[in-house]
Amino acid sequence: MATDLDGKREPRVLRIGMLGCGVVGGGLVKLLDKHRPDFLRNGFDLRLTRVAVRNADKKRDCELAGVRLTTDVMSVANAPDIDLLVEVMGGNDLAVEAGCAALARGIALVSANKAGLARSLPRFVECAQQGKAAIGFESAAAAHIPIVEVLERSLACEEITLIKGVINGSTNYILTFMERSGCEYPAALADAAAKGFTEADPRLDVEGIDAAEKLSLLALKTFGIWFHPDRIHTEGITNITGADIRLALSLDHRIKLVAAARRTPQGLSLRVHPALIHRGELLADVDSEFNAIILEGPSFNQLTFLGKGAGQLPTASAVLNDIVRLVRYPQASSLPGFQRAGAESLTLAGKDSLALCYFVRLGVTEGSDRAVLAGLRKLGLPVLSHSAVDHNGQRFLGVITDIVEESRILAMLPQAATLPGVTSAPVFIRLDKDNYRDIVEREQSAYFGASLQRQPGAGV
Ligand SMILES: NC(=O)c1ccc[n+]([C@@H]2O[C@H](COP(=O)([O-])OP(=O)(O)OC[C@H]3O[C@@H](n4cnc5c(N)ncnc54)[C@H](OP(=O)(O)O)[C@@H]3O)[C@@H](O)[C@H]2O)c1
Repeated sequence: MATDLDGKREPRVLRIGMLGCGVVGGGLVKLLDKHRPDFLRNGFDLRLTRVAVRNADKKRDCELAGVRLTTDVMSVANAPDIDLLVEVMGGNDLAVEAGCAALARGIALVSANKAGLARSLPRFVECAQQGKAAIGFESAAAAHIPIVEVLERSLACEEITLIKGVINGSTNYILTFMERSGCEYPAALADAAAKGFTEADPRLDVEGIDAAEKLSLLALKTFGIWFHPDRIHTEGITNITGADIRLALSLDHRIKLVAAARRTPQGLSLRVHPALIHRGELLADVDSEFNAIILEGPSFNQLTFLGKGAGQLPTASAVLNDIVRLVRYPQASSLPGFQRAGAESLTLAGKDSLALCYFVRLGVTEGSDRAVLAGLRKLGLPVLSHSAVDHNGQRFLGVITDIVEESRILAMLPQAATLPGVTSAPVFIRLDKDNYRDIVEREQSAYFGASLQRQPGAGV
């Protein structure tokens, strides 16, 4: 590409069409203006020429002078005078239709729309191949954490066994708010919605759907295989109570919505669910709109990324970096991207194969803690540590177990509900720890004293 470092060459003009001009689109308009001197310095000029919105009369907080504004999305996607399409409108239908139409006719696409991409990925790949056009979707995976590029290029030939993270800012905000204010889930959700921290349909966040869509994209770039988000085991945070949060804290843990894709002997395990994270772990300290992603692999052990996973400028900035990358390196597509040998033979691991440490919460009568604990142990629950709180006029007992098959926990809970002193149906939350032995050791040290040496296979 020509550069104008000597100031003598005309910059190459690239015309951008944009679908949507809301939070992210408005941010991009501002950044395009701010960074224009950088573009010119490097021999290109990015010009926003066409923008599609739902309501053309809406007042916007960005300058659109000279831009052709329309409500006809397909007219922008099909416009002969655009060189690159940015999709920041969201949705699974029209947005996908428009993005794919542009790709199929050879127009590069930069998209922040995780739902559209994760749910229609094969179609995007097909259209990109048909039109020999590139796609960038960094902002769709974890907004400002440059994880897609790292997986696509920096770690292209790396064996990765695990990618996991806290990748939904709204649930993170809600859980942090519950912890700090002591309120219950509905009040925390209302606060998050009032501050604009949830999607227009908050179910996408709180039921874990947004995180599953991001995990589908992250797993694709990590393991080379795509699984539809609906195939990912997904649980949200709607059943987390103030008592859970207080009990977790008193057991030295915090509750987060964790998304993880892990290579296991049974196949690829893809899961999104709330998890107790020990306060010594980095993920436990990731709050509000921050995201964190952890990678593990045999040659590098662990890599950690922390950054803003939502918000106008962090997301728009990731979109802009994708645009600039595709302008500078037109072949640097994120799809289909680097192919990993053997990826197609990876299957999804079933939920039945899970064996983890668990937190179990039970409502109990005053003075019955010891009897209930004894009853749980008698049922075969390997209790490592426990705590109790009085919350909203009710007593709750929380226990953390040793590693146990999830099927066993599920079979045990109905029996636990019938123990004398138990007043409400027990519920469980998984613990997030990949080397579960570590946490067992730590819990036991805390429980029995640091001098305890655990014998292999020893019971509790
Ligand atoms: N916000 C974030 O922090 C963030 C982070 C990562 C990824 N994303 C993704 O980025 C995308 C945009 O998010 P956002 O927060 O910017 O959303 P937003 O503020 O709701 O903006 C959506 C824009 O799309 C336009 N639009 C929606 N439906 C349309 C239709 N049928 N025809 C024409 N225009 C339509 C809207 O037009 P009007 O303005 O006229 O209503 C609006 O300008 C989504 O896919 C989201 O998941 C967002």
